[in-house]
Amino acid sequence: MALELVTAGESHGPALTAIVTGLPAGLELDKELIDADLRRRQQGYGRSPRQKLEADTVEVLSGLRHGRTLGTPLTLVVSNKDHANWTWGMSPWPPDEEPSGKGAKRVTLPRPGHADLAGVLKYGHADVRNALERASARHTAVHVAAGAVAKALLTELGIAVAGRPVEVGGATTEEGMRAATDEARNARDTLGGIVEVVATGVPPGLGSYAEKRDRLDARLAFALMGIQAVKGVEIGDGFDLARRRGTEAHDEIDPGLTRRTNRAGGIEAGMSNGEPLVVRAAMKPLPTLMRPLDSVDLESGEAASALVERSDVQAVEALAVVAEAAVAFELARAALDKLGGDALVDVLAAHRAYLARIGDRWQPR
Ligand SMILES: Cc1cc2nc3c(=O)[nH]c(=O)nc-3n(C[C@H](O)[C@H](O)[C@H](O)COP(=O)(O)O)c2cc1C
Repeated sequence: MALELVTAGESHGPALTAIVTGLPAGLELDKELIDADLRRRQQGYGRSPRQKLEADTVEVLSGLRHGRTLGTPLTLVVSNKDHANWTWGMSPWPPDEEPSGKGAKRVTLPRPGHADLAGVLKYGHADVRNALERASARHTAVHVAAGAVAKALLTELGIAVAGRPVEVGGATTEEGMRAATDEARNARDTLGGIVEVVATGVPPGLGSYAEKRDRLDARLAFALMGIQAVKGVEIGDGFDLARRRGTEAHDEIDPGLTRRTNRAGGIEAGMSNGEPLVVRAAMKPLPTLMRPLDSVDLESGEAASALVERSDVQAVEALAVVAEAAVAFELARAALDKLGGDALVDVLAAHRAYLARIGDRWQPR
């Protein structure tokens, strides 16, 4: 069975859940490493106070025994501690008590740039909250947990994946990114940015040119565009390649099968080519604004300001962690597609056999 992930959970509901199927048996997982990634997702300059409130940790409900996968569906759960303030507002069943706490008041002021307007029109909701609770990026927490599991598998195969912010509000140094964030906060505004994910140790031949759904570049673009607020994905030199001549766009091949450049970002014809994988994702400025944009009150039909809610100034560092998880999951899937095996020992044997077949000519990089 292919490696797959399905998630459930609302932003202020009791918990977020991920079910991962297709993991080989015998993979050792470390709760500390999963929790460390969950913490990384919550950190970063410009995040809202909610991040301090949550302090995410993972619970495992199935698929793991004494720290090793069983080869059965793995269920990962991250609780929403903030749910305690939303027990009436997010009660799954009609509450008996009088309305109280958060979420008791209907939201009718859609935010431009968020799920609010299209979401209520599409599903016929009377309360914008019914759309925003799931559209919110809160459930990226369980995607990060699943990404940490994927990274455990990749580590066994000598593959490392790391994401980092490379631009915030147009600034490209850490100092500049912080200054831009402070300025935006003072102006009660929000920012976007760019993150980069690099994977090393990826052998040639993950993904395929045979069908577009098998192309590694297509899968990575799908996985990254699937993250809230991501509006562009670039592989290698990406958009800049369109402005160059062919002689300056491709990566010449040396007899040792190494390349002098990595403009392709480690992917040719939908397959990894043995060079480091380099992918970038562009994030738009967050749509919840302290200085709200013009909108409409869906109840009265009159012009009104959009909803103001506690929100981040920017979440680019968090996106770097979420994007890293997304790339790791896709790489793990592509590796299992190539190497097969429902037991880790078989996956590792296939990996060794494959590296032996392509010979000493390819060295991990
Ligand atoms: C890690 C992360 C954190 C985010 N935090 C916020 C936030 O605090 N406030 C907000 O308005 N949007 C936030 N967003 C973006 C919204 O979830 C997103 O813009 C919205 O769901 C609409 O989807 P779209 O931007 O893909 O069109 C965040 C996105 C990510 C990836």
